[in-house]
Amino acid sequence: MTATAVAHPNIALVKYWGKADAQLALPATGSVSMGLDVFPTTTTVTLDGAAGTDSLVLNGGAAPEGALLRVQQFLDLVRDLAGSADRAAVVSENTVPTGAGLASSASGFAALATAAAAAYGLDLSERDLSRLARRGSGSATRSIPGGVAVWHAGDDQGSYAERVPAPPMAMVVVTISAGEKAIGSREAMRRTIATSPFYPAWVTSTTETVGEMLDACAAGDFTRIGELTESNALRMHATIEGAFPPIRYLNARSVAVFDAVAELRTAGTEAYATADAGPNVVVLTKPEDRGAVATALAGLGDVIESGTGPGARVVRSE
Ligand code: DP6
Repeated sequence: MTATAVAHPNIALVKYWGKADAQLALPATGSVSMGLDVFPTTTTVTLDGAAGTDSLVLNGGAAPEGALLRVQQFLDLVRDLAGSADRAAVVSENTVPTGAGLASSASGFAALATAAAAAYGLDLSERDLSRLARRGSGSATRSIPGGVAVWHAGDDQGSYAERVPAPPMAMVVVTISAGEKAIGSREAMRRTIATSPFYPAWVTSTTETVGEMLDACAAGDFTRIGELTESNALRMHATIEGAFPPIRYLNARSVAVFDAVAELRTAGTEAYATADAGPNVVVLTKPEDRGAVATALAGLGDVIESGTGPGARVVRSE
């Protein structure tokens, strides 16, 4: 059996930062995201029989040891569900700038979960597929439904992602550095929980913000969505910066984009900035403004426009 799946990254409007249960990958709070229609990951999983080991080819080359281990552990979960001992050959083409804080693991594990479930003959609902993707990487949970999605905090059964109604939105990705980030989000989350005095306030306030964001989405209130998005991103970075030793993802060029976005608002264009575990900044806009926003920010980094993207899907299976 072989299956190929495609998935896209998502950018959180309300961030996930920290796990309540690392084993089950249960988040400390809910989160809300917009799926992108750029940077797809295409992954093929081919079953190889019970002898041998799993293999992973990433962008045409041998994958780093750590990535292979994470994929093997994920495939063990799929094998458990399928009652199979078959090893798998995984070939993945990831067009997200890896390690630059654009959550390449989101599209990566969403595509892997979708392709592996099909190759191992599992017939999972979208909800169960998102629960499975969660075990690979938290943010991957939200790349299964795509669109604007909420990922619920909860227990193993209750922590899944689903689409929510929202007004038309677009994003402009400002890539400041496509290099490797200093510290991965997994380790940074652990350190934040263990040492940042702001973490309890992050959990309380973000839980509230998820509810406010879902209300704003349901009301089609773009301005409110944008205000909550920028505020929640800055609260996440403040919480992370409160860790010891401190972790700082935003650099001077990132801050310059936040300033430029504030200037755009003063000049009458609705735009709101957010950033994940890296220096790149992603700007939320209305679809009709995305070209103008991209042009205005072009001097500050490489800009790429994106609309709201689709969910993960199987494109070939035999
Ligand atoms: C800042 O999903 O990469 O992008 O669950 O440990 O794999 P793991 O973490 P990951 O963290 C993403 C953090 C974030 C915020 C977000 O996407 O909500």
